[in-house]
Amino acid sequence: MARPRVFVTRIIPARGLELVREAADMEVWPDELPPPYEVLQQKAQKVDGLLTLVTDRIDGHLMDTAERRLRVISQMAVGYDNIDIAAATQRHIPVGHTPGVLTETTADFAWALLMAAARRVAEGDRFTHAGKWKTWGPMLLLGPDVSGATLGIIGFGRIGQAVAKRASGFNMRVLYSDVRRLPEAEITLGVEYTDLETLYTEADFLTLHTDLNATTHHMIDEAALAKMKPSAIVINTARGPIVDPDALYRALKAGTIAYAALDVTEPEPIPLDSPLLTLDNIIIAPHTASASIQTRNKMATMAAANLVAGLRGEWLPNCANPAVYAGHSPQKM
Ligand code: DGY
Repeated sequence: MARPRVFVTRIIPARGLELVREAADMEVWPDELPPPYEVLQQKAQKVDGLLTLVTDRIDGHLMDTAERRLRVISQMAVGYDNIDIAAATQRHIPVGHTPGVLTETTADFAWALLMAAARRVAEGDRFTHAGKWKTWGPMLLLGPDVSGATLGIIGFGRIGQAVAKRASGFNMRVLYSDVRRLPEAEITLGVEYTDLETLYTEADFLTLHTDLNATTHHMIDEAALAKMKPSAIVINTARGPIVDPDALYRALKAGTIAYAALDVTEPEPIPLDSPLLTLDNIIIAPHTASASIQTRNKMATMAAANLVAGLRGEWLPNCANPAVYAGHSPQKM
């Protein structure tokens, strides 16, 4: 039987590539930048499986290959808002993703941003590099205490809960908002469930851990920002479009809120002429919250395992659209 063919849309950690290579004839896009949509579409015509990243737009059009050969899409990320899941399900194509393995690493990074914003670490670094550090300054780069402050978490899934866990070491009051209430987690993590209104008005730090969907798109808009404290700090390690960038710029410029720390932007990468880049009270990282060596290795092997399972006609160990299996017996489709 001919070996299946796959296209991997960027160079990923070696162990992941090895696993794919053992199971299939593999082509890897070698560039730093993602393949353009048209290229990806051409590649998709000729393969049984795609290993994709958050930077690849995967829509129904791309899935409609002439030979209907594409059997699995495996995304090396927990989020998959770049993939039209309904279109994949309609075409019986399972989509894999990598939940769980990046929880702690992403929560660490949300905390890194929170601490860096509160204590103005990036500004201090720029100040030093610019040769402006002349003496110890009693008024230099003052910021709010983290310890004892109120942390508001929107989206209380794995990552939101991991962020809350870290807050207990800082003696914080933790509020959360989610589509569902989690009474057990409230007890184990010592957190309070609140409505968004309360969360916006009472949080000193507001951190986003929800997925991007029609409800969360631009949920942090002018009206939400206006409810926050002038000292509030907003942290986003979830998805850029959850925050309206124009409203955020205006709020940071006018002092409606104090600071923002983003790992994700709308669009990505942030355009060099974005007004956000003119502000001092913002930190913007290039979507690196999951970028620890160990985690990226795990994400790559998990994505490879999903891909290989799909090529073999087995159920993906981590499937984003289990509806594709409706009516099929477990493991073999
Ligand atoms: C994800 O996994 O969804 C991140 O955004 C990339 O690590």
